[in-house]
Amino acid sequence: MMVYTEMGPRIMVLLSLISIQISIVAASTNSADVLGLNALKSSWTNTPPNWVGSDPCGSSWEGVSCTNSRVTSLVLGGMNLVGSLPRDISSLSALQYLDLSNNKGLTGNLPSSIVTLTDLSTLILIGCSFSGPIPDLIGSLQQLVYLSLNSNNFGGPIPPSIGSLSNLSWLDLTANQLNGTIPISNGTTSGLDKLVNTRHFHLGQNQLVGGIPSQLFQPNMKMIHVILDNNLLNGSIPNTIGNVQTLEVVRLNGNSLNGPVPSNLNSLTNVSELYLANNKLNGAVPDLTGMDLLNYVDMSNNSFNASTVPPWFTSLQSLTTLMMEGTQLQGPIPVNLFSLPQLQTVILSNNQLNGTLNVSTNYSNELTLVDCTNNEIANYTKTTGFTADVILADNPICRGNGSSQSYCSTQESNSSFIPSYNCTPNVVCSSNKVPSPSCDCAYPYIGTLHFISSSFSNLQNASFYKFLLTIQIFPKGQDAFNRTAVSSIGTLLNLQPFQIKDYFGPFFFIDENYCCFAAASSTTNNSSNTGIIAGAVVGSSVLVFLLIGVGIYAYRLKKRAERASEQNPFASWGSNEEGGDFPRLKGAKLFSFEELKKCTDNFSEANIIGAGGYGKVYKGTIASGQLVAIKRAQQGSLQGAHEFKTEIELLSRINHKNVVELVGFCYDQGEQMLVYEYIPNGTLNENLAGKEKKKLDWMRRLSVALDSARGLAYLHELANPPIIHRDIKSNNILLDDQLTAKVADFGLSKLRGDSEKGYVTTQVKGTLGYLDPEYYMTQQLTDKSDVYSFGVVLLELLTARAPIARGKHIVRVVNEALDGSEDPYTNLQEVLDPNLDTNLVGLEKFVELAMSCVRDSGAERPTMGEVVREVENIIQLVSSNLNKIKSPATISPGYETEGIIPSPYSGEDLFHNSMGSLPFNVESQ
Ligand SMILES: *[C@@H]1O[C@H](CO)[C@@H](O)[C@H](O)[C@H]1NC(C)=O
Ligand SMILES: *[C@@H]1O[C@H](CO)[C@@H](O)[C@H](O)[C@H]1NC(C)=O
Ligand SMILES: *[C@@H]1O[C@H](CO)[C@@H](O)[C@H](O)[C@H]1NC(C)=O
Ligand SMILES: *[C@@H]1O[C@H](CO)[C@@H](O)[C@H](O)[C@H]1NC(C)=O
Ligand SMILES: *[C@@H]1O[C@H](CO)[C@@H](O)[C@H](O)[C@H]1NC(C)=O
Ligand SMILES: *[C@@H]1O[C@H](CO)[C@@H](O)[C@H](O)[C@H]1NC(C)=O
Ligand SMILES: *[C@@H]1O[C@H](CO)[C@@H](O)[C@H](O)[C@H]1NC(C)=O
Repeated sequence: MMVYTEMGPRIMVLLSLISIQISIVAASTNSADVLGLNALKSSWTNTPPNWVGSDPCGSSWEGVSCTNSRVTSLVLGGMNLVGSLPRDISSLSALQYLDLSNNKGLTGNLPSSIVTLTDLSTLILIGCSFSGPIPDLIGSLQQLVYLSLNSNNFGGPIPPSIGSLSNLSWLDLTANQLNGTIPISNGTTSGLDKLVNTRHFHLGQNQLVGGIPSQLFQPNMKMIHVILDNNLLNGSIPNTIGNVQTLEVVRLNGNSLNGPVPSNLNSLTNVSELYLANNKLNGAVPDLTGMDLLNYVDMSNNSFNASTVPPWFTSLQSLTTLMMEGTQLQGPIPVNLFSLPQLQTVILSNNQLNGTLNVSTNYSNELTLVDCTNNEIANYTKTTGFTADVILADNPICRGNGSSQSYCSTQESNSSFIPSYNCTPNVVCSSNKVPSPSCDCAYPYIGTLHFISSSFSNLQNASFYKFLLTIQIFPKGQDAFNRTAVSSIGTLLNLQPFQIKDYFGPFFFIDENYCCFAAASSTTNNSSNTGIIAGAVVGSSVLVFLLIGVGIYAYRLKKRAERASEQNPFASWGSNEEGGDFPRLKGAKLFSFEELKKCTDNFSEANIIGAGGYGKVYKGTIASGQLVAIKRAQQGSLQGAHEFKTEIELLSRINHKNVVELVGFCYDQGEQMLVYEYIPNGTLNENLAGKEKKKLDWMRRLSVALDSARGLAYLHELANPPIIHRDIKSNNILLDDQLTAKVADFGLSKLRGDSEKGYVTTQVKGTLGYLDPEYYMTQQLTDKSDVYSFGVVLLELLTARAPIARGKHIVRVVNEALDGSEDPYTNLQEVLDPNLDTNLVGLEKFVELAMSCVRDSGAERPTMGEVVREVENIIQLVSSNLNKIKSPATISPGYETEGIIPSPYSGEDLFHNSMGSLPFNVESQ
């Protein structure tokens, strides 16, 4: 009898082990999902060749991702699929993410059964050939956050039920044949006025009729882009538009809007781009005074009353582009227009401007084009240094003798902005391959970025005005991309990579059919079927940035550098560190380029101690003998002068022992550099991975967590104004020789807004893997986004794993370990850093804290102040335990590491969000 009672539990344990085994072995795909995928397979040609067998999840069908045997994500962009979407797609009832973009062979209606996929949070069908109506009941997809049906042939009206998508952040119906009016709610149906959480309303290039309803603009909306261009809208612009203070881009051009522009438009002080061109607007030329962030204005071809140049022409300091063609302007062009510091392009053709065009005194270094075709200008004065293109054809000055002057020709200068790269010796490629920027022969993936608005303006190329940019993306180290890579690139681009969007505004990507898919590798036999692997994508998206970066930014920066620093915004601050004329700059010193060049030995390779998206970091010794780290912005990372100045003012006011101190800065010869105190022991990331990692014992890790939490809490709660860091990661936590941790890198930081809601609306920035999914979805930045990133750092301290490795996000890895057993902390041992001791005191509390920081909802995460207190409690607990056992815990002085230890984390970043893992480039090198 004793035997049985003893055997009982043992058998139980064995049985449960077996059942776990069985459940893993039997993890075949849910049968409804198999049915659904087979329906797709039989409706389409060109499905991936590895779509064979009856277990799509288990055998890793390309483009298919599963969670717990359910298909949760289908990413099949750019695969040249041909066919229609079968009704049976509704069998995939756990689908959260559906991206079929850039399959021009996909035709027919969107089956109405699609509205039963109620878990769907993202639906991307950009650049297919779907037609017919958008299903009436699309509003049933209550989880939708991102809906893009851009560039298809959808017709009929916009279904009013879209208004019930209360979680929708991104609505893009651009470039279809939608007709009917803009739906507004009434007693019985919903309408777009109900989309109070939607940030992007992209409805341009359709055939929408009627007026812009005044109800579309509600004061509680979070709308940042309202894009209604190139429709058939009439009536006047409702003055309710002044209610939506969050607006950043207003694009109403190419309609038949009439009446005067509402006078409260200029209360929209966050607007940076305003397009009202090609309408029938009348009344006075609108007064835009006070729209201080406005950088792109196009009001061309309207019927405004004749007037002289309005005063705001010369007062909007952020203006880069001014397009006022055919707007009845008369009288002289004010000289000080050209001294606006950012001004690049001025188009004033077809007006009655007269007098002298004078660019002889003060003009913007950025200026590249002044087009005054068809005016009454009689004289032109410029200095010899002035190199921008000027066009004065059809003016009195170009009649008679003057007509031979170069400025009298209408020919546009021919600046190509797709870079050409020289391969020496000349590379000749066979069979339709093309030389890549690194001079290898490969099949590029080619497509066009269609910009929905445009903040880059100085490229006088016809296609630029249509906001098109063709790009070629090359595989790295291979001939061709496989299907997974191609669809990942499409997703990557269409989900708006941060860098590109920040520079140039939102866009969508339409590809050319890819000719030559590489075969899927057959080695993927493991169970990690997150579907998308990043290697090629990281490599190639770097090239995307390279192409765009080299093409556009280099051009701009070259001009900037060439014209040196005549208009250095710091000139008025004086260059003497004690100088009294910049009281807000506590202590930060202005360095000249020459000084920093000298102290880094002409920026020699040997002095490079780090590199990132921003540029390179050099070690140097300044005249006082202090060791410093000099962060030098590279082409493509330079900020506007005003932003840079703001950043310096901000950084110089920060003073906390757990925050890296700014010693000074340089703004000289077209360069921007930040000079920081040198922190000798490298980043936390390096320390966790490096040779000396064993020295980071549990107590030291807790202490690192406490220091960095304090630094961050200071930024959130005590700095004035408060700062959201926006890029917390183990690479931005530095350790000094006492192993004191310091928070570094405010390259992306931003003042917290005054808005009562406590968030800053801004374009998403940050590093994938650390990026708060809520912030990504909503684009609302709060200090809780930093808390999320900090939670990821805590998990790294615990596991010494990269935030994303082998396609899995660290949060998921830890969650799965916690879920896997009755005592949540037994399985956890498997994911802990093996260099840590076992039986760590306070481990559970630490894990609990980390997991609370990465909760989905920001509101449920602790504040940094609370994190500090909790880490203090844990340290207390550990110390009292140590006291009981042996000597008191001490944190001994650190150790030396030389230079940069190669990080195992680089190039492995994927984007992780609630829909699964998607590949995403993080930092373009
Ligand atoms: C959608 O919004 C509701 C509140 O309106 C929220 O409870 C729910 O969690 C949201 N769903 C997603 C997927 O964000
Ligand atoms: C609107 O589009 C639908 C579907 O394309 C079409 O049948 C209808 O005639 C269009 N209506 C108008 C007024 O153009
Ligand atoms: C509400 O609008 C819909 C069309 O959007 C229309 O069919 C319906 O009759 C309207 N109801 C009322 C009460 O006005
Ligand atoms: C707008 O156009 C519609 C036809 O599409 C017409 O019926 C209506 O009268 C127009 N409204 C105004 C204010 O011009
Ligand atoms: C310029 O135009 C204004 C308004 O049409 C007129 O009053 C003025 O005399 C003109 N000046 C010259 C120099 O032609
Ligand atoms: C402008 O040019 C005309 C001749 O083209 C000349 O008579 C006049 O003096 C010039 N005015 C100025 C201000 O330079
Ligand atoms: C696709 O290519 C990438 C690298 O180019 C590779 O990492 C990945 O495993 C490939 N995917 C498949 C399914 O073969």
